[in-house]
Amino acid sequence: MVKKINACVFISGKGTNLATLVKSSRKNNFPLKIELVISNKKDAPGLKISKRNSIRFKYFSSKKMRIFEKKCLIELKKREIKFICLAGFMRILSKDFIKNFSHKIINIHPSLLPKYKGTNTHARVLRNKDRFSGCTVHYVTPKLDSGKIIIQKKVLIEKNENEDSLKKKILKVEHAIYPKSIIKIFK
Ligand code: GRF
Repeated sequence: MVKKINACVFISGKGTNLATLVKSSRKNNFPLKIELVISNKKDAPGLKISKRNSIRFKYFSSKKMRIFEKKCLIELKKREIKFICLAGFMRILSKDFIKNFSHKIINIHPSLLPKYKGTNTHARVLRNKDRFSGCTVHYVTPKLDSGKIIIQKKVLIEKNENEDSLKKKILKVEHAIYPKSIIKIFK
């Protein structure tokens, strides 16, 4: 059994990636223990996943990012968090915050980075009539969606693909590569 490192998952929405990480973290050989979940949305459905799994969770408003980050840092320190996974967290963390966790924050993004950084990736991919899209797990740096890539996986775009079907298809792959990336990092 590996000695698990305390991790926190940051969310803003549904939390399907959070659910996958929680499931993986129950396995003996998974390097992380999800000790804390932080949401910047009070009613994020993902918070129910933490509740259901008896994982401590906190909501902090991100109206003022400086205050949000300050509150997060206090909580992260209190819970001895050494690693952060962003999973559908829709705010950009500051350079000063990231400095506290250098090479210890990762993110999942629903595109083949460096293509389609930012939001609305699926709509942009379809508009451009790309043949492939995919998802990427990468380190978080102060530059949006630009840190070193850990794992990236492609999916083929079907002729009749729409935003919803592409999103579903990519999410499925996200759920496979997010835990895999974490195992890869700690190998
Ligand atoms: C995922 O597509 C992730 O790549 C992106 O936001 C979405 C979050 O989905 N950053 P969920 O909240 O994990 O279901």
